Amino acid sequence: MRPSGRTVVCGIVGDPVEHSMSPAMQNAAFAAAGLDWVYVAFRLRRGEAEAGTAAMKAMGIRGLNVTVPHKVDIRPFLDSIDDVARRIGAVNTIVNDGGLLRGYNTDAAGFARALKDHDVEVRDRTVVLLGAGGAGRAAAFSLADRGARLVILNRGVARAQALAADVAGATGIVIEHGPLSDESLQHWLPSASLLVNTTSVGMNPVTGDSPCPAQLLREDLVVCDIVYNPRRTTLLQEAAERGARTVSGVEMLVWQGALAFELWTGVQAPVEVMRSAVEEELGRAAV
Ligand code: ATR
Repeated sequence: MRPSGRTVVCGIVGDPVEHSMSPAMQNAAFAAAGLDWVYVAFRLRRGEAEAGTAAMKAMGIRGLNVTVPHKVDIRPFLDSIDDVARRIGAVNTIVNDGGLLRGYNTDAAGFARALKDHDVEVRDRTVVLLGAGGAGRAAAFSLADRGARLVILNRGVARAQALAADVAGATGIVIEHGPLSDESLQHWLPSASLLVNTTSVGMNPVTGDSPCPAQLLREDLVVCDIVYNPRRTTLLQEAAERGARTVSGVEMLVWQGALAFELWTGVQAPVEVMRSAVEEELGRAAV
């Protein structure tokens, strides 16, 4: 639909943002839903979160996604923050309701929807979670809330420990943690049914790396990687070669976007359209 004087504006704020998949994904969704809406990328530099939220209010921007480096520092400039985002300590979606800005985190629910979509059960299962950064925090709260027995492994152990303490404090569940090393993977993986990578290991351009030795992967393990570029990371490729079920990072990307779309529009997200748009964009980026 060609933009008009009534076109509703949404977008993403972050730095860098020029390689974001979200404009392609959300504009495809708006078009499929027949909405006179548009989604654009706004480069918002570190330290400019307050100015960004003021601009959102002043210009009546309906919705924003928030990415690096603002997911944490934008919080004080919002009028309210929902419980999930508050506990995770990060906002990835803002809804502007008549000048009142409300923050959400759809990474956590998007991660859960991606697993559910692939019939991955987590309740009472041991889940080994690699990474304790922003994405790791969202995945950890999501998994703990759904009854998983969680083991958090991170290169920097202090960060793993802090996340384990935060999640345990919020949920009352005991969370194991340790360093991300071959030894600890060897210790914890045999009892696990799900392995989730939230580190950036394997991400373009260092695509040959994997956070887990291939020989520890096995048929009765589900392996989920939140890295979506490349779509088939070395970890997922090696897991598939050993007969494991895999869930790609594209799924979490699509579902967090679908949930943001629904918060802004109140319309059910055209998930298939969004997935195709991301895959097309990733294909283009790989050329
Ligand atoms: P994001 O918001 O995408 O999670 P982040 O907060 O920078 O990004 O976190 C990146 C994660 O990848 C962290 O868990 C980081 O480990 P540290 O906390 O020890 O830095 C992990 N990571 C990045 N590069 C890594 C590497 N080469 N080996 C192992 N872990 C790595």
